[in-house]
Amino acid sequence: MSSSTTTQEQAQLVEASKRQAAYQAVKDYLLPEYTRIGIGSGSTVVYVVEAIAALGPSVTSKMAFYPTGSQSEELIEAAGLNLQYISKLPAGEQLDVAFDGADEVDEDLNLIKGGGACLWQEKIVATSAKRFVCVADFRKLSPRLGTAWKKGIPIEVLPMAAPRVLDELRRMGALEPRIRPGVPGKAGAIVTDNGLWIVDAPFLPLLLSKDTESGAQNEDREKGVWTVDALADRLIKIPGVAEIGLFYGSNGLQVASGAQKPVAAYF
Ligand code: 5RP
Repeated sequence: MSSSTTTQEQAQLVEASKRQAAYQAVKDYLLPEYTRIGIGSGSTVVYVVEAIAALGPSVTSKMAFYPTGSQSEELIEAAGLNLQYISKLPAGEQLDVAFDGADEVDEDLNLIKGGGACLWQEKIVATSAKRFVCVADFRKLSPRLGTAWKKGIPIEVLPMAAPRVLDELRRMGALEPRIRPGVPGKAGAIVTDNGLWIVDAPFLPLLLSKDTESGAQNEDREKGVWTVDALADRLIKIPGVAEIGLFYGSNGLQVASGAQKPVAAYF
């Protein structure tokens, strides 16, 4: 078997896994009585929307779909689903469920998100939902965040603050944090749907809170090793940081924002 065939077969396996995970998630977590559905971003979510559209108008016509950026807005419209905006969701009301992908998932269901630069709106939609369903294929599971996804934690930043944010990330032990470039071959940074930039900050694999119950945390932090929640707490406080691509803790979204926890990761 040639190496190109192997690569092609691997790509097919990955696509089949994403599709299977998406259809399973929709089957298990899109209840017919739901009326407000959040739709995340990325290539896995394409299959989520496909699976929802396949249910047909008898199910979907009573539902409204809330995007996390321009990509999912286009997906919802192209599938003929009813597009609505989270900005119009009245205060005190919630989405029934939100579906989204992830770049990496650890055993406590902490997530790295933002590989597609949509993390800020993704977090708003996820935390506006009663239930957040993370749809992830077999490549995404790892014991510690930073093991499978090595590009770093995506951080959405105000462009004028980017150099200062990079300085602070280096002081915190990030390994070569960098501003994410835009279109290949063209100078300049990627610009998010919110007009901001993305900084990718690789850290050594992140510890789970339970790893540090022994009290070794401070010593580890000096070596650039952080727990997920300690790092998240610190990153979000850097001036110029709008949002971070850590969705953390099996109870993390609940603790961080008052919304619900991720309930499922499919592999
Ligand atoms: C976009 C995201 C995506 O959910 C994440 O990058 C996963 O993408 P894919 O399904 O293409 O692997 O967070 O900002």
